[in-house]
Amino acid sequence: MNEKQRLESQQITSETAKKEKDYSQYFQAVYTPPSLKDAKKRGKEEIKYHKDFEIDEQFLNMGKGRKFYIRTYGCQMNEHDTEVMAGIFMELGYEPTDSVDTADVILLNTCAIRENAENKVFGELGHLKPLKLERPDLVIGVCGCMSQEESVVNRILEKHQFVDMIFGTHNIHRLPQILSEAYMSKEMVIEVWSKEGDVIENLPKIRRGNIKAWVNIMYGCDKFCTYCIVPYTRGKERSRRPEDIIQEVRQLAAHGYQEITLLGQNVNAYGKDFDDMEYRLGDLMDELRKIDIPRIRFTTSHPRDFDDHLIEVLAKKGNLVEHIHLPVQSGSSDILKIMARKYTREQFLELVRKIKIAIPDVSLSTDIIVGFPNETDEQFEETISLYREVGFETAYTFIYSPRDGTPAAKMKDNVPMEVKKARLQRLNDLVNEMSREAMRKYEGQIVEVLVEGESKNNPEVLAGYTRKNKLVNFKGPKSAIGKLVKVKIKASKTWTLDGEMLEAQEPVEVM
Ligand code: 5AD
Ligand code: SF4
Repeated sequence: MNEKQRLESQQITSETAKKEKDYSQYFQAVYTPPSLKDAKKRGKEEIKYHKDFEIDEQFLNMGKGRKFYIRTYGCQMNEHDTEVMAGIFMELGYEPTDSVDTADVILLNTCAIRENAENKVFGELGHLKPLKLERPDLVIGVCGCMSQEESVVNRILEKHQFVDMIFGTHNIHRLPQILSEAYMSKEMVIEVWSKEGDVIENLPKIRRGNIKAWVNIMYGCDKFCTYCIVPYTRGKERSRRPEDIIQEVRQLAAHGYQEITLLGQNVNAYGKDFDDMEYRLGDLMDELRKIDIPRIRFTTSHPRDFDDHLIEVLAKKGNLVEHIHLPVQSGSSDILKIMARKYTREQFLELVRKIKIAIPDVSLSTDIIVGFPNETDEQFEETISLYREVGFETAYTFIYSPRDGTPAAKMKDNVPMEVKKARLQRLNDLVNEMSREAMRKYEGQIVEVLVEGESKNNPEVLAGYTRKNKLVNFKGPKSAIGKLVKVKIKASKTWTLDGEMLEAQEPVEVM
């Protein structure tokens, strides 16, 4: 929906609100469905940067005496979008609550990456229905990636009519207007733009915690891997200007944050869309490393755009950690080709070789999809052998899930589900074995841990992460929370390390 259509539809929404529910009219006038086909079109228009986000005065008291609850599904990008929406809610005067029973607005921030992610959301909607019947004033909203799919919006319109509002990933900054419409209208308010928006700066944020923070560096993805819905749900690649990112990281450092994760669906494409300068992720990292903050990470990388300059900058270390998440997806060049990943097994191995020469102690993790349409046993074996050859320390592994509207969903698939499951099991066994091996190497070593809090299972024990993102449990004073401490590793498990905290003054060399 473009701005003109949006304004027209707004007028119609308030007119129709007065009448009885008439869905035929509603479909024609108010509702422009999100379209994956339209979302695929990459416009040539310039990206506009809005640096002056402000909430209109008329909305400022909307949340007085009301509480909001947001349930987040999916990736860190969604988690961070939730932080922005929480920020907007707070500016509107709402208070947060951690229970749906006391909430006046419930938002589901959804993920569309695999079918099971979507099923969870539909299940949750089913659970929320009785709540809405009990409390008709409750406002229920669906946002995030699923809202960008027409099939999802249609299903909600048909089967979950108690939902009050649906808005997409490009409309988050319009939350005040959308909420206000939802309060005034009897109809479901739907505002999903198939075309991505501009880059909006200065959005308010309520960050979860005060130790680690996420910082968006870019939005969208233009890679169009054939299995992936993200380029359709998140739109085209748009990079934030370096000065805005640097300022945000500086502010976080000044507020005492210890670790930053730079976010983007394909961070290695950072800066490709700037037409006034040649400035890429390596340049950005080179500037960020001068900021006084102990750790900076980024996610997620695409091997194709991982250039030599970035490797050179990462090798300078300092606050740039020696852990890289580098999704490979498959070890077979033939499968990579039909996935449209735009690199071969050999090119991936060459990239890894270069990274390891520059950063010998680097820890690599990855994402892998098994059971892509028509994947043969031999092709799967190539994934297994690549995993060993690279020496990945950990991985997120998935069974391929067809996504409506993507090219792979149209491919005939001759691989039975039992075979896919068996492949996943074999891969997971290898992932566990390699993780166990990587963890064992830490026994007797001293590591630097950023202490995040008490361990989930035992409040006597503190937990935190190393630079390479390994979870460490150890006994220590609560005053260590939020600080970097040295821990001597006494024992290793498959996914975690156990250790003993050292006194601050002991001079040590850390891993
Ligand atoms: N099916 C299974 N896994 C997928 N991923 C993305 N799309 C799909 C899909 N259709 C995985 C990829 C990606 C990670 C975030 O999710 O491995 O890197
Ligand atoms: Fe999806 Fe990542 Fe490929 Fe983009 S690069 S299409 S987000 S898998």
